[in-house]
Amino acid sequence: VAIHREDYAPPAYWIDTVDLTFDLDPAKTRVLNRMRIRRNADASNQPLRLHGDELNLARVLVDGQGASFRIEGDQLVLENLPDAFELEVFTTCQPAKNTKLMGLFVSQDTFFTQCEAEGFRRITYFLDRPDVMASYSVLMRASKDQYPVLLSNGNLVEEGDLADGRHFAKWVDPFKKPSYLFALVAGKLVAREQRVKGRSGRDHLLQVYVRAGDLDKTEHAMNSLIRSIVWDEARFGLSLDLDRFMIVATSDFNMGAMENKGLNIFNTKYVLANQATATDADYANIESVVGHEYFHNWTGDRVTCRDWFQLSLKEGLTVFRDQEFSQDLCAEASARAVKRIEDVRVLRSVQFPEDAGPMAHPVRPDSYIEISNFYTVTIYEKGAEVVRMMQTLVGREGFAAGMKLYFERHDGQAVTCDDFAQAIADANPHSDLTRLLPQFKRWYSQAGTPRLKARGTYDAAERVYTLHFDQSCPPTPGQSNKDPFVIPVNVGLIGASGRELLATQTLVVTQAGETFDFAGVDEEPVPSILRGFSAPVVLEFDYSDEQLLTLLAHDTDPFNRWEAAQRLGLRAAMAAIDAAPGAGAPVLSNDFIEAMRRVLTDTSLDAAFKELVLTLPSETYIAEQLETVDPQRVHAVREAMRARLATALHAEWQQAFEDNRDTGAYSPDPRSAGRRALAGMALVSLCLAARESGDTVWPGKTLQRFKDAGNMTDRFNALHALVSSGHALAAQALASFHAMFKDEALVIDKWFALQAGAPDRGGDVLPLVRQLMKHPDFSIKNPNRARSVIFSYCSANPGAFHRPDAAGYVFWSDRVIELDAINPQVAARLARGLDRWSKLVEPYRGAAREAIARIAARPDLSKDTLEVVTRALQG
Ligand code: ARG
Ligand code: ZN
Repeated sequence: VAIHREDYAPPAYWIDTVDLTFDLDPAKTRVLNRMRIRRNADASNQPLRLHGDELNLARVLVDGQGASFRIEGDQLVLENLPDAFELEVFTTCQPAKNTKLMGLFVSQDTFFTQCEAEGFRRITYFLDRPDVMASYSVLMRASKDQYPVLLSNGNLVEEGDLADGRHFAKWVDPFKKPSYLFALVAGKLVAREQRVKGRSGRDHLLQVYVRAGDLDKTEHAMNSLIRSIVWDEARFGLSLDLDRFMIVATSDFNMGAMENKGLNIFNTKYVLANQATATDADYANIESVVGHEYFHNWTGDRVTCRDWFQLSLKEGLTVFRDQEFSQDLCAEASARAVKRIEDVRVLRSVQFPEDAGPMAHPVRPDSYIEISNFYTVTIYEKGAEVVRMMQTLVGREGFAAGMKLYFERHDGQAVTCDDFAQAIADANPHSDLTRLLPQFKRWYSQAGTPRLKARGTYDAAERVYTLHFDQSCPPTPGQSNKDPFVIPVNVGLIGASGRELLATQTLVVTQAGETFDFAGVDEEPVPSILRGFSAPVVLEFDYSDEQLLTLLAHDTDPFNRWEAAQRLGLRAAMAAIDAAPGAGAPVLSNDFIEAMRRVLTDTSLDAAFKELVLTLPSETYIAEQLETVDPQRVHAVREAMRARLATALHAEWQQAFEDNRDTGAYSPDPRSAGRRALAGMALVSLCLAARESGDTVWPGKTLQRFKDAGNMTDRFNALHALVSSGHALAAQALASFHAMFKDEALVIDKWFALQAGAPDRGGDVLPLVRQLMKHPDFSIKNPNRARSVIFSYCSANPGAFHRPDAAGYVFWSDRVIELDAINPQVAARLARGLDRWSKLVEPYRGAAREAIARIAARPDLSKDTLEVVTRALQG
C-alpha cells in the first residue's frame, strides 16, 4: 500500500515523555514503556493508534488501570481516552532472532538498536513518526558479566548493582527527540576517550566504543570527530550541545551509520582503521561518515523532518555539510578539487542512472511503499547538489546567514524542505534564489536529470561571444512533462593559446531556451561551462577534440580540466563501441595518448589529480550514454582502452611508480594518499602491460611490494594489480593475504570483494563466487560480508555478471530471494541491480526481465523487495 505525501496530517496525539525499562535478554527482552500522552487539540477526536512490529504484547494500562484495547493489523488501538493520560505498555521481543537488524538486535553478543526510519515500533508500541517528539528516560537492566557496558541517549544519571549478578544504568536525554533517534547499546565494549572544550568553554566527553581487540583502530575516528566539532563551530557557528558524545561500532549493520542523539551507532567499516588494516579510501570514508553523523546533531536531530517525504531535508543538507567539511580539511586547492571530482563521479555513475531508471523519484518523493527503499543517492547526493546550488545562488556568506535563520526559526521542530528553502531565501532577500524560489523548488518536486544543450557563436567584428542554452528533462515514472529548472551555470572562457579570457561567472538559466552575451572577447574562445559541476545536469556541447585538448591543458578550473579528459575518453569509447567488432581500428587515438602522456609527466600536477584524469569513464557511465547496451561490448572496449594506455605509456608508468612509490611514514593526508593512488595505478598498468608482453619482471616486483608493504593501501594495491591482471602470482598473494589477516573481518571483506570483483576470464568469476560462498568465513547474514561477495559480483563487476548464458542473473535472483527472508533492506538493495535492464540488448534484456519476474512471483516477499521489483518490471 503506497503512502502519499499529500495525505500528511498532524498526529491525533502527542507523546510528551517516555520512560522505558529494558530487561535485556537475547532470547526474550522485556520492555516496559510508560508514556505521558495528550490529545492534539488541532486534530479531530479519534482513537489512538500505536505502531508495532513483531512484538508480543503482555499488558496495557491507562492511568494505572487495565484498559480495553484492540489489535488492528500492526496497530494497537485505544478508544475513549481522556485528554491527557499515562499509558503503560508492556511487551517482549526476541533480539537474537532479529536478522533484519531493525529495532533491537544482537551482534557478537552485544545489543544494538537501529530505529530509523521505522525500527522503534519493533521495540515498543509507539507513534513511530518523526513529528512526535518526546523526552526520554531509559532504565536498562542486564547481566553485569555479559553486558558490562550499558549505553543510551543523553546523560548517565544513575548506575548500580542488582541481585543475581545483574546491574542497571539509567540514562536521561536532555533533548526532545523523535523515536527514530532512540538508541541503546549493551555489551562488552571498551572506549577511547577524550575530553575537549568547545568554543564557549563547555566541556565534553567524547567516546569511541569498540570491541576490546579494536581499540588500536579508533584514533582516526576520534580525530575525525574532534575535527568535525571544530569545523561546525567555525563554519556555521554550531556547537556540541551535549556533555557526552558517543560513537559505537558494530560489525552487523545495514547502512553506514546512524545519528542517534548523543549515541551514534556505526558500521565498523566507518570507524576502525590503522595503517596495517585500512586503506587511504577507508580513512577518507571514516572522516566523512564521522563528520556526517556528527553534523546531523544539528541538521537532523535539533531540527528534524516532519515526515519521511522530507528525508532530504536532513540527508541532502548533511551530505552537503560533510562534503564541505572534507573539502575544507584539504590544505591545497587542488585537493579540494579532487574531492569535488570524486563526489561528482559518484553522482553521475550512480545517481544519474537511478534518475533515468524505474526507481527515479524526486528529491522530495510524492509516495512510497517502503521508506527504507528511499535512502537513495537521489535523496542523499542529488539532495546535496540542490543545497549546493542554493549556496551558489546566495554566496557562501549568504548561505551561512540562511542556516542561522533556519535554526532561529525551527530549532526543536520537525519541518519540511520548503521551510529550509524559505529560510535560506529569506536571509538573502536580494538574491537570485529568492527572486526565483518557486521555480527553484522544482528541484525538489521533479525527478530526472536535466539536459542542458549549449552552443556558442563568436562575432569577431563586435568582439562578442554568445552562449545559447536549451534545457529539457526526460520523463520519469509518473511525471511525463517537466517545467524548466533554475540552473546555475558557472562559465569561464579560455583562449586558443590557453590564456583565460574571462574568469568564472555564474549564469542563471531559467528558461527552456536562453542566450547570454559576453562583450570584449578578443578571440574566439573555448567555453569552460559548468565549472565545478555547478548543477546536477548533463551538459552537451559540441566540442572539437582540439577544444577539449585545450581545456585539458589550460583550463583554470580543475574540474573542467578533468572533465575534458573524461569527454575525450568517452568519445573514444563510443567510437570503438560503434565500430564493427574486430575491425582492428585502434581504440585510442595518438592525440589522446599523447595528452595522457603529458598529464602523467606534468610536474606541476598533483598525483591524485593525475590518477583521476587517467581513470577512464566507468562501464556504467559509458553504458548510460548509450541507447542500447551490450555490456560485454562495453566491457571489452574499456578493457582494450586500459590495455592500450598501459602499453603505450609503459615508460611513463615506470617513472610514475618510481616517483611515487615511497611516501615515507604513513599518513592518510590527501597529498600522500594521492601519491599512493598513482603508484597503485602504475602497478596495475605495468602488470597489465606485462600480461600483453609476457614480461615477468613487473609481476615479480609487484609481489615483492605486496610482501614488503608498510601499509594496507600499498599492500592492497599490489594485490589488486596481480589479481586484476590475472597473473599466476595472484593465487599465492591471495592465500598469504588471507593468512595474514584472518582475524580482521574488514580486511577479509576486502579479500572477498577483490575476488568477486575480478575481471572475468572465460566465465570463471561466477563459479569462484559460488565457491567463496562456501568458504568458512562467509555468512550471508552479515551485511558487510554479503556485500563483499554478492554485491561485488552482481553490482560492481558488469563484465562478469552479464553473461550470455544468463547464469549471473539467475544467481542474482536466487540471492535476492534468499536474502529477502533474512534481511529485506539488504535484499531490496541487491534487487536494484538490474534496474537498467530495459536498455540491454538481447539476449541480456529478456533474461534480465525473466530474472526480475522470477523474484516478483515469489509469495511472501517483503514490501521492500516487492516495491523494487514491481517498479523494475514497469520500467
Ligand atoms: N540517517 C542515517 C544516515 O544517513 C541512515 C539511516 C538509514 N537507515 C535505514 N534504515 N535505511 O546517516
Ligand atoms: Zn545521514
